[in-house]
Amino acid sequence: MTQNLLEPTQIGDLQLNNRIALAPMTRTRAAGDGTPGDLMAAYYAQRASAGLVIAEATGVDVSAIAWMGMPGAYQESHLAGWKKTTEAVHASGGKIFLQIWHPGRATHSLLIDGRQPVAPSAIRLENSETHTPEGKKPYEVPRALGLKEIPEIIAMFKRGAELAKAADFDGVEIHSANGYLLDQFLQSKTNHRTDAYGGSIESRYRLLDEVVQAVTEVYPANRVGVRLSPNGVFDDMGSPDYREQFTYAAQQLDAYGLAYLHVMDGLAFGFHELGDPMTLAEFRAVFNGPLMGNCGYTPETAEAAVSEGHADLIAFGRPYISNPDLVERIAGGIPLNPEADPSTWYSSNTAEGYTDFTTAT
Ligand SMILES: Cc1cc2nc3c(=O)[nH]c(=O)nc-3n(C[C@H](O)[C@H](O)[C@H](O)COP(=O)(O)O)c2cc1C
Repeated sequence: MTQNLLEPTQIGDLQLNNRIALAPMTRTRAAGDGTPGDLMAAYYAQRASAGLVIAEATGVDVSAIAWMGMPGAYQESHLAGWKKTTEAVHASGGKIFLQIWHPGRATHSLLIDGRQPVAPSAIRLENSETHTPEGKKPYEVPRALGLKEIPEIIAMFKRGAELAKAADFDGVEIHSANGYLLDQFLQSKTNHRTDAYGGSIESRYRLLDEVVQAVTEVYPANRVGVRLSPNGVFDDMGSPDYREQFTYAAQQLDAYGLAYLHVMDGLAFGFHELGDPMTLAEFRAVFNGPLMGNCGYTPETAEAAVSEGHADLIAFGRPYISNPDLVERIAGGIPLNPEADPSTWYSSNTAEGYTDFTTAT
């Protein structure tokens, strides 16, 4: 039977109104201590007609923060703050997952109380700078995590999932994409370890596997998604053995019965150009659960990907910033608003460029 982007679907035991997801997007509107407020609840509620809302990258520890105004999932105030969002989205008939995240080397000591950023290996993120309270700065050389420190990283993700559950999120997405800590462990470019967590494709996958195991002790596996970016160059990533690494990861993840595998297959967020891009079809060949595509999709290409069976769900990022009623616009064939001004993407605590877009419906 042909699938349709606007048709309801089910992931695990969760009924979704359609196959459109709001891609996780950092918008830095939380309070200085990472507490989400009413403005964030309003933003997510505006987008609740998405089949699935995936709330932005959320730090799982005070040492796992990379921008001022990003939310956390590690203290009481975060729990209370996120409850406002989940209540608002549920009241609007939506379903919402929280993206749980650790930046690894992609942060700065000025954002994490003077601690040196951590990573699989002491390899610096080159070719870009990061915003700190003292202005833009180059990334620092991270400290390679000691073997004995790894259980604590896993525990951070588990505690993040516990907080998400207590805050009534329908599930969590484990962020293993875009050059953050779990992606740094997966990829040979950033992981030069010679212990159990590096040196081979299997060993580089180990940390992600252990995080999935821990998180699935909190939520059933069918409420846990994982995000991968096999083609990405963002945060100075891209490894020559990307195809073998990501195929292996998807094969292994298949055994869990996850809610979904979220693959940034499109090239609209940067491409490492180390070979042919990996396609959804390659992931379909090894992953039997729901597959979500993302990156540069338009309503037309998303519909084609779903109706041709390449994906079960498509996540939209930038189109959703300026089109809170994206689902209704697609349903009605209504033209989309122009893309939002990128200078408002990360402005702190302002409604401008965040909750002030017009709806057509
Ligand atoms: C402002 C902004 C913030 C983003 N923040 C995140 C994030 O927190 N977590 C994540 O996995 N991806 C993040 N991304 C990537 C998006 O989820 C998405 O993959 C990307 O925008 C490509 O999809 P699109 O072409 O539909 O926009 C962000 C992208 C943008 C534009």
